[in-house]
Amino acid sequence: MMPALAPTVTLRDAVREAYSAAAADPEQRHQFPRGRELAANLGYPRHLLADLPEECVEAFCGVSNVPLFADLPGDEVVLDLGCGAGLDSLVAARRAAEVIGVDFSPAMIARARRARQRADAANVHFCMAAAEALPLRGASIDVVLVNGIFNLNPARDAIFAELARVTRPGAVVYAAEIVLREPLARLRRLFPGKRDEVPENPAGWFA
Ligand SMILES: C[S@@+](CC[C@H](N)C(=O)[O-])C[C@H]1O[C@@H](n2cnc3c(N)ncnc32)[C@H](O)[C@@H]1O
Repeated sequence: MMPALAPTVTLRDAVREAYSAAAADPEQRHQFPRGRELAANLGYPRHLLADLPEECVEAFCGVSNVPLFADLPGDEVVLDLGCGAGLDSLVAARRAAEVIGVDFSPAMIARARRARQRADAANVHFCMAAAEALPLRGASIDVVLVNGIFNLNPARDAIFAELARVTRPGAVVYAAEIVLREPLARLRRLFPGKRDEVPENPAGWFA
């Protein structure tokens, strides 16, 4: 019999490998959309994207435009959870005191750090860590941005517990996520032209 934890570990490794592969070579075919066109389609203004380092734009793989609607009057410490290549962190850094981007993919963090250097954003820090064990002090964060992480993680309770620990009382969490409302097999039948974009095996992407 398989140990109880096996599916979680397998999915976790698959997720990290998939996003690391996208960070290493965004132009290759991957199981999820990414890059400048995705960001523009999600509502990031093209002039803003043009002003950001290519390193973070071409490997962007979020599901919304969270930092655009986040209320950041200027003195906040922001956590960008699952920051990927760092696009949202760099956008938020223009309106916040400090931004900490966390991701468990070494390739994504390496890319985010290159983007940070190119943008000369001294108030942004990128840290390789798991969302379930954040290397942050308790009650140290004012605003959290989450642009697509929960559906990838079966251990959501641990992530929420960490968010509760690191946020200050009154902190705000802006989270965008993909929600699966019907079986993927049905979606594949409904949109035959989009079959390539709808994964065959939901277990790989929807925890
Ligand atoms: C859908 S992508 C979004 C990336 C980024 N927010 C963006 O908008 O481009 C999800 C990101 O979360 C990271 N991730 C997934 N699960 C994680 C976890 N448990 N801990 C840390 N990072 C995680 C992945 O490596 C990936 O970079």
